[in-house]
Amino acid sequence: MTSQDQAMAAPAAQDLSARFEHEFGSAPDGVWQAPGRVNLIGEHTDYNEGFVLPFAIDRTARVAVAARADSTVRLLSTYGDQGVVSTTLDTLQPGTAKGWTKYPLGVMWALRERGVAVPGLDLLLDSNVPLGAGLSSSHAIECAVVTALNDLTGAGLAAEDMVLATQRAENDFVGAPTGIMDQSASLRGAKGHAVFLDCRDQKANLVPFETEPAGLVLLVIDTKVSHSHADGGYASRRASCELGAEVLGVKALRDVGVADLEEAAGLLDEVTFRRVRHVVTENDRVLQTVELLGGAGPSAIGQMLDASHASMRDDFEISCPELDLAVDTSRAHGAIGARMTGGGFGGAAIALTPVDAEQAVRAAVVKAFADAGYRAPDIFTVSPAAGAMRVA
Ligand code: GLA
Repeated sequence: MTSQDQAMAAPAAQDLSARFEHEFGSAPDGVWQAPGRVNLIGEHTDYNEGFVLPFAIDRTARVAVAARADSTVRLLSTYGDQGVVSTTLDTLQPGTAKGWTKYPLGVMWALRERGVAVPGLDLLLDSNVPLGAGLSSSHAIECAVVTALNDLTGAGLAAEDMVLATQRAENDFVGAPTGIMDQSASLRGAKGHAVFLDCRDQKANLVPFETEPAGLVLLVIDTKVSHSHADGGYASRRASCELGAEVLGVKALRDVGVADLEEAAGLLDEVTFRRVRHVVTENDRVLQTVELLGGAGPSAIGQMLDASHASMRDDFEISCPELDLAVDTSRAHGAIGARMTGGGFGGAAIALTPVDAEQAVRAAVVKAFADAGYRAPDIFTVSPAAGAMRVA
């Protein structure tokens, strides 16, 4: 099934409830959904206490959930690969879960670690967020589950607390040393807006971002190159940033400005300097992009996207040939700006494209991938959508 087809087959809440009842023998307590995200700009800045500008997309994970009176946990997904996975609350430990069940179980574990009285439960998952495309399909699941459990337990957690709980699930249960961007977009996103987030204090401002009135579309090009942030690349970039901050004597790279880079070059080894330069200039690009969106609007941000990609390709070194080809080909055929999005080493690129160049860009990228002998990419448009919510 292609992503286009998945979008067509967006999971309906009623269907999910009916399927839940069929599988588990009684109706769920409710259905909750949370979206994937696209990061417009601000990559690898979140764990440096910097700025990011992601948005929630119109692709969601949905969970139908019923609390149980005992400590049994039964999980089932419409992906259909694992059947019902049964476990108990008391045996939840990092490193014990497999496949997609890591995400709901990680959230349950993290909430229990915070002292939330998580009940045993039955859960059915459906999702049309493409898997492994760098659109945070895993955070979509986690955010749907944390929203459901916050409601069902009456824990009264604020969005900021749910962000930290899902980060704990990712870092300590799933084993991916990621920041807070993805879950912030999924939990705090709003239709027609990007989330301008200060990752130092979680202060968020919604910035209007609509491509249609500007005669643009935002294309996502899923390269089908799979990536995992539990692999070494992400962690090694994070370690370089921590080393850079330590040598420069700051709490986090957020505290280094573009004007400080010249001096930093003399203090850091060559590789660490380039990692630092990416983060410092990327923070600056986020701030400039927010300014531009508030002024001339989306048609003015192309250069920012291009500069961000070059910085990730050359300084942070987290791109790959497929992402570079997607970006370069889109630009050559009419996109006004393009960059890889997400953690890197695979996943998706975004291309901000005038409506009348959309077909040419799509065709050119498909042809370029075929000519290079790469897997056919999946190309689709996204727009900023609502954040996590209860839907039934
Ligand atoms: C992944 C992580 C985020 C962020 C990005 C890079 O998506 O989950 O926390 O670090 O990579 O910007």
